[in-house]
Amino acid sequence: MIAQDRDIRFIEAITDADGAHKARELFSRTFGYEPSGVWAAPGRVNLIGEHTDYNAGLCLPIALPHRTFIALAPRRDTRVRTVSAVRQDSVAEAELEGLNAGGVAGWAAYPAGVAWAMREHGMAVRGFDAAFVSCVPLGSGLSSSAAMTCSTALALDDVYGLGFGSTDEGRVTLISMAVASENDMAGASTGGLDQNASMRCRAGKALLLDCRPGLSALENVSQQDFDLAAYGLELLVVDTCAPHQLNDGQYAARRKTCEEAAAELGVRNLRQAADQIADASRGDADRKREGLDRVLAALSDPTEIKRVRHVITEIWRVEDFAEAFGSGDIRTAGSLFNASHDSLRYDYEVTAPELDTAVEVARSNGAYGARMTGGGFGGSIIALVDKGQSRQLAEKIAEAFSAKGFRQPQALTSVASRAAERVA
Ligand code: GLA
Repeated sequence: MIAQDRDIRFIEAITDADGAHKARELFSRTFGYEPSGVWAAPGRVNLIGEHTDYNAGLCLPIALPHRTFIALAPRRDTRVRTVSAVRQDSVAEAELEGLNAGGVAGWAAYPAGVAWAMREHGMAVRGFDAAFVSCVPLGSGLSSSAAMTCSTALALDDVYGLGFGSTDEGRVTLISMAVASENDMAGASTGGLDQNASMRCRAGKALLLDCRPGLSALENVSQQDFDLAAYGLELLVVDTCAPHQLNDGQYAARRKTCEEAAAELGVRNLRQAADQIADASRGDADRKREGLDRVLAALSDPTEIKRVRHVITEIWRVEDFAEAFGSGDIRTAGSLFNASHDSLRYDYEVTAPELDTAVEVARSNGAYGARMTGGGFGGSIIALVDKGQSRQLAEKIAEAFSAKGFRQPQALTSVASRAAERVA
């Protein structure tokens, strides 16, 4: 019995060869002909910088080795037919001609929405048939939806010869198509972090993403070394399997509060407030804290105060984490993970009992630090641990979940992996 309680499934990443083979096979079995090619896009974990992207802030994702594979062929007409390995017997169809925002229901909204957004932007895209195979766990806060929209955008770019996918700058255009699909067709709020990670991350690097509007592709990212093995570390990811929904209004409510608070403070966005305080303090931590207190004192609503405190301190934590990890100060990096989670728990109020429990177990069992990753309200946690410790810790978390009557979690380990690309 006890042995069973500790059982936890580790999700392995499918290899490119295997993913391409399975997606091709599903495609030809479903549609009766061969696809033009296979493309893959990864899920992500955000190391730190949560709920900062839509506040023009900073975030620091890595791409997972876990990817979504799409086998695709263009069509002469404007129909879209999609099938996924999750439900192989059901083909979802949509018509692009005359399609409006919100016009496709269910999961097919994500891929069809990408073609719709591209056409809305004047790109010469018609219909397509596509088959999806993925090992990014669904609804886990690991960006399975961005993996789907980004792989679709890259595949359509390729088969319609648009040429955006071959440069970083072009990829930024495809990212905005993926974001538009999620926001406007699927009705899921997203701020750009996930799609940038899926399209722009590099192996061995974390993507320091600056979300201020108006920055060029060259200006808004910097590739930071993220070589866990060099420090004898592993990054454990635990999907709590708690129900997770971004489009249930909570995410949108957080965004709205941030925008209202920025207006009240007379700044364009909360990033501007964070920068103003940091600049005025000239590197003095006490002055920075006092500056923050003064800004918070200008707000009257207690909820706004908490939300703003999270966003501003989280933006600072991204810079501090990049510096600490870069210089090998893993204890400080870990404590910044912890501070980020606590801020998301008490100030931003987006954690869930499953996330808090997993983080607590990780912290009391030797992790350097642990935090929720992604939008929250369920989803996954990450923990920075010594090499070889992941399985043991994951089992401890599973045991605690079982004792609390939570659903059984699942786990994976991650190294910083490659962005979306053609694989066959
Ligand atoms: C979700 C959104 C992202 C980002 C995170 C929180 O993953 O899709 O844009 O806002 O939540 O950091």
